[in-house]
Amino acid sequence: MNEKSVENEHIPVMLQECIDALKVKDNGRYIDCTIGGAGHSSLIMKSAKNVHLLGFDADRKNFNKAKKRLAEYGDNVSIVNTNFVNLKEEAEKLGFEPVDGILFDLGLSSMQLSEDGAGFSFQYDAPLDMRFNTEEGLTAADIVNSYSEKEIADLIFKYGEETQSRKIARAIVSSRPIRTTTELADVILGVIPKRGKIHPATKTFQALRIAVNNELDNLESALQQAIELLDEHGRLVIMSYHSLEDRIVKTTIKDASITCKCPPGLPVCTCNTIPRLIPVTHKVVVPGEEEIKNNPRSRSAKLRVAERINKNRT
Ligand SMILES: C[S@@+](CC[C@H](N)C(=O)[O-])C[C@H]1O[C@@H](n2cnc3c(N)ncnc32)[C@H](O)[C@@H]1O
Repeated sequence: MNEKSVENEHIPVMLQECIDALKVKDNGRYIDCTIGGAGHSSLIMKSAKNVHLLGFDADRKNFNKAKKRLAEYGDNVSIVNTNFVNLKEEAEKLGFEPVDGILFDLGLSSMQLSEDGAGFSFQYDAPLDMRFNTEEGLTAADIVNSYSEKEIADLIFKYGEETQSRKIARAIVSSRPIRTTTELADVILGVIPKRGKIHPATKTFQALRIAVNNELDNLESALQQAIELLDEHGRLVIMSYHSLEDRIVKTTIKDASITCKCPPGLPVCTCNTIPRLIPVTHKVVVPGEEEIKNNPRSRSAKLRVAERINKNRT
């Protein structure tokens, strides 16, 4: 392996923690919604006997990679090259339900952040694309070159939580057309000088990626579908990498775990709310110091776990 491929090899984050949380069992059925390089999925397959796995990846290269890596498991593994927003539809098509565990390891793999990636990273010069599926939808270049200044500012603020969004949007509009990752990063550097370790383009790149792939709406929808697919005591295991995703995960688990929605002060509960989840992790789990040292890309990971309950009552 040369230096570049070592650097681009995806190291699975909180691997053992995720597998333990899934409680992989013999003859169990699991879904990996973000199969990537199949790091987590390989260990799922090895952790018990006769495990069945359904994997998703919207990115064609990662789909191919995962397929190759898990080929030895034959019919026990199915992988689909589609967005996890189609989770329930695909599982139903394959008769793959109810399931014992569902994993989401959100975001990008190291392969996608590498030189050969679809313009996700400003560290490599590439066309400004950012689509997981490069065959449909608007690219990041389409957005920066055609949206109004206000629309760009709002998008960067909403999806990047970037407080300097107006300044950046103004610079983008006056530098159009912008075609590559480096051009965009340079435009941003021109108005926000680099201070400290974080590149000033980080939040803008995050915002564009979220918008291009409709990531937040898709996540909200897929989490609801996942709850429906889980069997009684099935585990929902989610790793997120930024606060917007984590907020959706936290709120989904909280809302599905509520036991009573009656207004405060009622003497008895009349709402008959039936919770569908019970939280397993009460505080978010993060990687240890050693893992962050060995794999700096793990530093922003946040793991939350919940268990399906009342399957036959809801
Ligand atoms: C962090 S990587 C997963 C790495 C994997 N757990 C491993 O150990 O190799 C996330 C993967 O999910 C895919 N992905 C992200 N959002 C997706 C979505 N909405 N639908 C399907 N795949 C998605 C990405 O293309 C990427 O391959």
